[in-house]
Amino acid sequence: MPRPPDLTPTAKNLSNRIFSELAQKASRMSRRIYPLHVGDTWRDPIPEALAEAQRIAEYPHMHRYGPIPGEPPLLEAIQSRLHQLHEIHVPIDSLQVTAGATSGLSILAQTLLSPDDEVLVLAPFWPLIRGTIRARGARVIEVPCFDRLDDPDFDLETRIRQAITSKTVAVYVNSPNNPTGRILPHGSEEVLRRIAEEHNLWLAFDEAYEDLYLDGHSHTPLWKCPGVFERAIVSHSFSKTYGLAGARVGYTHGPQNVMEAFRDVQTFQTYSAPRPMQYCALAALRHGESWLEETRRHYREAAEQAAEVLGIPVPVAGTFVFFDASPYLPEAASDVTPFLHRCLDEAGILMTPGAASGEAYHRWARLCFTAVSLPELSEALRALAQLLRR
Ligand SMILES: Cc1ncc(COP(=O)(O)O)c(C=O)c1O
Repeated sequence: MPRPPDLTPTAKNLSNRIFSELAQKASRMSRRIYPLHVGDTWRDPIPEALAEAQRIAEYPHMHRYGPIPGEPPLLEAIQSRLHQLHEIHVPIDSLQVTAGATSGLSILAQTLLSPDDEVLVLAPFWPLIRGTIRARGARVIEVPCFDRLDDPDFDLETRIRQAITSKTVAVYVNSPNNPTGRILPHGSEEVLRRIAEEHNLWLAFDEAYEDLYLDGHSHTPLWKCPGVFERAIVSHSFSKTYGLAGARVGYTHGPQNVMEAFRDVQTFQTYSAPRPMQYCALAALRHGESWLEETRRHYREAAEQAAEVLGIPVPVAGTFVFFDASPYLPEAASDVTPFLHRCLDEAGILMTPGAASGEAYHRWARLCFTAVSLPELSEALRALAQLLRR
């Protein structure tokens, strides 16, 4: 039982200091720094979606408490987008606007998980998901996957089955994936359906990158497939799609009974999502399609440049490249740290250590190719290319 000055074991085990050592070092350096470690964008949102564009005259009382599920016009706009894109009808009472997908997934963890429950997390993964699950006292069971999809011996179904125990409650799927930019191949929906039905599991889909396919193709989301949809809780975000990460708006949908409980849990967390920011999101939904098209083109070019310098395939989607840095490491190195220090010292580039995305990735690194503009990225990549040749 924690007493001052002690905190709960959960709080002590959580850390948001993933990037801290290198970032602190960078802040003390006088040279030009390229912050390619955080998943952000250099693009401003469309003018209609800016905070300063939301007017009381149009949305009276927007600074008062709002409805917990979300602003009705935003819920309707989300509902019609889901229908337009995926031909899926999501009832309004199964939809919840959240303070970003981060909050959506955290509320979901509180809704579904008890201490000691296990969640299978397809790895490598978005760094924050590990803490989100652990904050419930639940366990993350890593299933290395996205970096092995081209290996003919890799079988997703076998790997997931090997990881299941009587404590498994859910599988977390982030496809398109942060950090690899890969997607689960066609047929994975059947694997997930079979396993989830057999073991009675929830399927938690993180769709943060659903609109950032860079390959010019349209893809059917795994969650909408029959048999999957019935157990799928899906978290979406406005952060990546419309460049609104600071607005903190996303939405989650799922089976009605889950969403009722989800709403109850959210009431004690953020109550509603930030109300004025929901109007930013609404404006982005109404007017943001050509911005999104243009964004994909910019990101595609950036992805190609980054992949070329690193000698890896161009990511299918998202904002990152993820690579095994072993060829650039001293043999004795236990992890990627010496390489990340070199990148910072010699090229001014900040990257994320692969271990943030899973136990199997200590010698890997993640680079975000959308955090700085294309000319700046090209500059950074030129410096990186030189460093890699040395
Ligand atoms: C896979 C993934 N999920 C969720 C999030 C968080 O999204 P939001 O900004 O909506 O909280 C991110 C942000 O980087 C992400 O990469």
